[in-house]
Parts: sequence; C-alpha cells; structure tokens
Amino acid sequence: MEKMKAVVYNKKGSPEKLIYCEADKPVPNDNEVLIKVHAVSLNAADYRSMKMGIIPKRKIFGADISGSIESVGKNITLFKPGDEVMGDLASFGFGGLAQYVIAPERALITKPSRISFEEGATLPMAALTALQALRDKGNIQKGHKVLIVGCAGGVGTFAIQLAKYFETEVTGVCSSKNVQQSDSLGADFVIDYTKEDFSKSDKLYNLILGINGNYPLLAYRKCLAPNGIYVMVGGSISQIFKSLLFGWVFSFGPKKMRSVAAKSNRHDLEFLATLLANGKIKPIIDRRYSLDKTADAMNYLSQGHSTGKVIINI
Ligand SMILES: NC(=O)c1ccc[n+]([C@@H]2O[C@H](COP(=O)([O-])OP(=O)(O)OC[C@H]3O[C@@H](n4cnc5c(N)ncnc54)[C@H](OP(=O)(O)O)[C@@H]3O)[C@@H](O)[C@H]2O)c1
Repeated sequence: MEKMKAVVYNKKGSPEKLIYCEADKPVPNDNEVLIKVHAVSLNAADYRSMKMGIIPKRKIFGADISGSIESVGKNITLFKPGDEVMGDLASFGFGGLAQYVIAPERALITKPSRISFEEGATLPMAALTALQALRDKGNIQKGHKVLIVGCAGGVGTFAIQLAKYFETEVTGVCSSKNVQQSDSLGADFVIDYTKEDFSKSDKLYNLILGINGNYPLLAYRKCLAPNGIYVMVGGSISQIFKSLLFGWVFSFGPKKMRSVAAKSNRHDLEFLATLLANGKIKPIIDRRYSLDKTADAMNYLSQGHSTGKVIINI
C-alpha cells in the first residue's frame, strides 16, 4: 500500500490528539476521484465532531478542500487528472487533512483559475452556510434590515458580504478587535458586544442571523420586525439546543424562529466561487498553518475567536 502524510485522530478528546504521521494513501473506486490536496480550511464541524467522538471512517478530519485531480475512477465524467477542484467533504467522510483524499464527483466543483487554492478552501462550508441561511431560511430581500450576530468568524465574514450583495442594510455584532474589519467588509453598522447589548436597542430587523454567542431567544424575538425571521446558524452548544428545542414555540404569530443545517450543493458553491472570482466577495484568512501544525490550528479555532478562516497548507 502506498503511503502519504496525514493528520490522524484516534481518541475522543481535544485537538492535541491529532497526530501528524504516515497513513495509507486512499485508492478511489469507480465512482470516486483521487485529489492531491493543496489547502484545507478548518471548521467548527471538525472540532465539534472530535469532541463528540464522531470520528470519520479513515480517522482523518478536514472537510473544506481544494486541490488537483490525481486520478479518476472509470465512471467519472466531470473531471480528469490535472483539473483544479474544491469542495466540502463533510458528508463524504472528511479526509482532507492529508496529502491525498478521495471524493465522489458530486462533492466537487471546478476551481475558477482566478482564485487561489487557499481562497478556494475557505468557501465551501462557511460561505455556503451563510448563503443558505440568508437566502433559503431567511428569505432575504433587497432593502431588508439584517442583523448578523457573530459577524467576525468564518461564516459571519461571508454573511456580511453576501447580505450586502443582496442589497440590504447590515448591522454586525462582534467584539472590539473586529469592529474595523466588519466595517471594511461592508457592514453599515457595527455593534461591539463588549460595550453594547444589541437587544437593548429599539431597532427592529427583518432578518437576524444568530451565528455565534449565546443570547436568549426572547432577546432575538424582541428585535424582530413584524414578519421578521430569526435564523439560528450556530453558537454555543446551549444556544443551539435552545433554538432547536424551543424555536418553534416562539414561532407562533408572524415572527419566525428557524435554524439552518447547510447542505453541500454544487450549484450554490459554483455561484459563490463565481462571486469570489469576480471580486464580489473575499475570504478573510486569519492564520495559515502547515499540515504538521494542524493540532495547533485546531486548538486556536476551537477557542472561538478566530477572525475569518484558518487554513492548512499542504
Ligand atoms: N448550521 C449550519 O449548517 C452550520 C454550518 C457551519 C457552521 N455552523 C456553526 O456556526 C458557528 C460559527 O461558525 P464559524 O465557522 O463562523 O466559527 P468561527 O469562525 O470559529 O467563529 C469565530 C467568531 O465568533 C465570534 N464570537 C465568539 N463569541 C461571540 C459572541 N458572544 N458574540 C458574537 N460573536 C462571537 C468571534 O468574534 P469575536 O472574537 O469578535 O468575539 C469570532 O470571530 C459555529 O457554532 C458552527 O458550529 C453551523
């Protein structure tokens, strides 16, 4: 069996259990491609799965990848060796934190030549989540007033830019260190949560995205305009459970409280890649690490205060 370098996870627990070592190079079946990985971006899905003991079959995390096709199975029609691709492998066994990974072709799109491998790896899960939360669950419309709570991380930085793309008025909520950045990404107003509580203001919003933090559902509901929609994207575990368990209770009447579970979708990813290639959105890359320093990168991300995306270059 051929070998490759990979970051392997064996035990339930902390990111320190990620071991940089040799692993078997995967072999694609007839319906898979083999990708030489160039860049991976980390997501909360990586470290949360780790903490919950949900371990991928090959014991290698890493969902959002970009790379070049090394070889293809005999039923593959969309790609050929040498093609540059990107995609989200969370529904296909993860495996990106390695020199090579296999994936079905439906997990991938062609990476536009105008965007780098790093940029390509930032998009799949974070930007897709922001898009599906705003457009599909939030029914975003031109002129809406949109509040984005947790606007400085991977999902939030894309959410600001996409909400502006949809021609809305955007208010972002983040800590002092990220106010300037949120402003420069296009937010019309930025609330520093260390100085001001958004829920104490009388301002009402047509759409609220709860991406990070842990706020009472009633605080969100109070800030919704008549017919307004709150979409829970993420946050603390307690925020997620509260929203899933009780969101429907507060959805009686015209105000709606929903949650989003983003789904990998080639059409949406192509749309986002085109926006990026045309300069309509841009990724914020907070830190870059090499594959052997993945445990440090995961540890940093899991503290919950990274600004934009954390990249592993391979
Ligand atoms: N529903 C889905 O399908 C889906 C998909 C992807 C991700 N998610 C979830 O979405 C959440 C965000 O993901 P992410 O990739 O954006 O995470 P991330 O990059 O780790 O988010 C970090 C950001 O969160 C901000 N933050 C931390 N505490 C905050 C608070 N109390 N109020 C406001 N902002 C706060 C931080 O800003 P400051 O440093 O300024 O505080 C930091 O910039 C996670 O819970 C993740 O599990 C859900």
